[in-house]
Amino acid sequence: MIFDRYRQVIAKKDAIPEIWLDCSNNEFQEQNIKTIMTQDEQKRAVAQAALQYVPTGEIIGIGTGSTANLFIDELAKIKHRIDGAVASSEITANRLKQHGIEVLDLNSVSELPVYIDGADEITRNMHMIKGGGGALTREKIVAAVARKFICIADQSKLVKVLGKFPLPVEVIPMARSYVAREITLLGGQPAWRQGFTTDNGNIILDVHNLNIMNPVELETALNQIAGVVTNGLFARRAANVLLMGTDQGVETITV
Ligand code: 5RP
Repeated sequence: MIFDRYRQVIAKKDAIPEIWLDCSNNEFQEQNIKTIMTQDEQKRAVAQAALQYVPTGEIIGIGTGSTANLFIDELAKIKHRIDGAVASSEITANRLKQHGIEVLDLNSVSELPVYIDGADEITRNMHMIKGGGGALTREKIVAAVARKFICIADQSKLVKVLGKFPLPVEVIPMARSYVAREITLLGGQPAWRQGFTTDNGNIILDVHNLNIMNPVELETALNQIAGVVTNGLFARRAANVLLMGTDQGVETITV
């Protein structure tokens, strides 16, 4: 048991004090190891914590990704309390249906009290990069309708400045080369996500080497390029609450 936990700690060795890595050290204590949570444990903890934001008798919006998947699995346990969900991707819709949760078309819903989703990067003022899973456009649409955006993420997603994670941009296929040239003029290095088609039939350009000091401005500028459907910056519609998994448990951050 101790050994299994120790193996997990080894995998995270950059994050822990040197003394814990020394097997021969008699002071190696299980008590200390227990304070470390793996990334997956952090994701599960925030998925569980998000249940407190699910209102009874309502329809909620649900995002895409491994953290959102864990949330859907938790939601299944209380599915009788909600009237259904709007999904941000076909993958999410399928997972919801597998759990017996009704999936509604956004056009049949006038308002959503809450949207719950993960992020690839988030700052303390709640600006995000999303779209690592390629679902950014539907995520942005569902988030726009929702009154509250609850972001669920492990602590590795919290950054001071957005841009280390390549920024996904959804593009109409015939505009790919033109949009790539325009993005280069804005200072980014676009890479075509080969072999990937979005749920909307489009392609993704992942933009590297951006140091995003003004996310609202860049989000707007990218969306002005003809052929761009949308980009993965969620700055104009930022999160309202971040539930962040840490080694000590779930931290709640609001602006
Ligand atoms: C998908 C997304 C996801 O929210 C983002 O990629 C985070 O995913 P994960 O929870 O797997 O880390 O934007 O388009």
